[in-house]
Amino acid sequence: MNRGNLCWPLRIRLAWLAPAAVSFLVCSALRAAEAPTTQDTVTFSKDIAPILQRSCQNCHQPNSVAPMSLITYQEVRPWARAIKERTALRDRRGVMPPWFIEKNIGIQHFKNDPSLSDLEIAKIAKWADSGAPEGNPADLPPPKPLVDGTKWNLGEPDLVVSTEVITVKKGVPDWWGELASVPTGLSEDRWVKSVEMREVNDIPTGTAGGRTTVGGRYVFHHMIWTTTVPGQQAALGEDVGEGSGTWPIHEVGRNADIFPDNAGKLLKANSSLVFASAHIHSNGRDTKAHLLFGFKFFPKDYKPTVRYARRNLGNGVDIDMKPNEANQRLDAYKVLDENTKITSYEPHLHAPGVRMCLEYIWGINIQTLSCSGYDHNWVRVYDYDDDYAPLLPKGTILHIIGYMDTTSANKNVPDTRNWSGAGNRSISNMFIDLGQGIALSDEQFYAEMARRREKLKLSANDVLIGCPLCNGDPIPPPAPRRQAAQTGGGGQ
Ligand code: HEC
Repeated sequence: MNRGNLCWPLRIRLAWLAPAAVSFLVCSALRAAEAPTTQDTVTFSKDIAPILQRSCQNCHQPNSVAPMSLITYQEVRPWARAIKERTALRDRRGVMPPWFIEKNIGIQHFKNDPSLSDLEIAKIAKWADSGAPEGNPADLPPPKPLVDGTKWNLGEPDLVVSTEVITVKKGVPDWWGELASVPTGLSEDRWVKSVEMREVNDIPTGTAGGRTTVGGRYVFHHMIWTTTVPGQQAALGEDVGEGSGTWPIHEVGRNADIFPDNAGKLLKANSSLVFASAHIHSNGRDTKAHLLFGFKFFPKDYKPTVRYARRNLGNGVDIDMKPNEANQRLDAYKVLDENTKITSYEPHLHAPGVRMCLEYIWGINIQTLSCSGYDHNWVRVYDYDDDYAPLLPKGTILHIIGYMDTTSANKNVPDTRNWSGAGNRSISNMFIDLGQGIALSDEQFYAEMARRREKLKLSANDVLIGCPLCNGDPIPPPAPRRQAAQTGGGGQ
């Protein structure tokens, strides 16, 4: 186990209602102490193959999205130096696997986290620097079963819905618009546990495709979609049923969504998927493509116990990006009007974006929840582990900070001489956290904190990042409020 990958909450005493302003993490000290300790030779068979199996091969295998297969020693050997370089980028554009969470700050517990620990990154570097030896093939882990290019990362869905097949000619401009709606064929209401979206196209896979960027492998840049029952109105981004909330957006390079166990999303009987806003781009060759939506369901008797909260955290209009300038900063705020469990963090910037942080402000507490690098070729969603997802009282202010770079150091910017404002095109800007959260009543909020205190064995001296009221002695649920005593602050 790599201890440096865990950030231990520093135990500091918080006086009730006069908490210390910040909490610290003791990751960096552990990191420094954690250079690869092994004196042994690092070999492909013993050390590297297990890392590739866990974090790379779901993409790097024949007929998959990645440009080359990374399974056998013969396949991997020529890439040793490139693998060292890409993994050493850690959380910056270009890192492999594409996962940009910064490990030295904020919450470190996510669902389906493929990222490498410091020890693994150091092992790869040592292996590449020592001539990338194969070692003893008897040390190899049993091979991971291969899947073809049509596999689902979350396993076989219960329901698959496809858009129509479209043809995108090789030299045409970008296209925005609506595709025909498609019925789900459901005869009864079902609650959705996860949704995975992916593009299927006839672009040749592997190096035969001749395209080494993610954008070159797809024609759908994004798809904003919703669901409706024919006869009912469907508006973009509108709630479509009790507990349902909006559906995640398909975006190029995006991973699948797993919804919290107590907050499924409703797909109604006789509903259709409405493909309200597609952005399609040419990729240099005539291409036929369609999008697949794979749904996994909760059991039929499932009922959610909480509903989604509205977050709307971002700045859609007021963006002024100067040409050729690094470190341009944007800020946006949102006051939570309900107790909220933040279930995911999804930074959404455009080509100039290189980093985002999400923090909360509650009373005099200011804590960073997550910081991540950003690469507009790889738009990622980060689902917090259920026991570590931020639990924030109503009245908390969420704050996102965006960092933009319009210099040539940011390869996603096509022309560093251009000013850009807000807009839909990738060369214009957006600044949003598309992450989701669930709204908790006071009773649910206090019950969730009590459960967490017990599960994580939190003492009065512990600080759990993202849960300002989790520490300390159990707090009784608030007495019913008198009308006049509305303070807006949570938890009193
Ligand atoms: C989610 C899919 C995915 C995962 C997981 C993934 N890769 Fe990649 N990888 C790609 C794609 C697609 C490209 C080409 C586009 C790009 O560079 O972003 C790529 C590019 C690369 C390159 C550069 C190839 C070149 O032409 O120079 C290297 C090296 C690499 N990956 C290594 C790895 C390693 C090592 C891992 C695991 C630690 C990994 N990748 C995990 C999809 C993936």
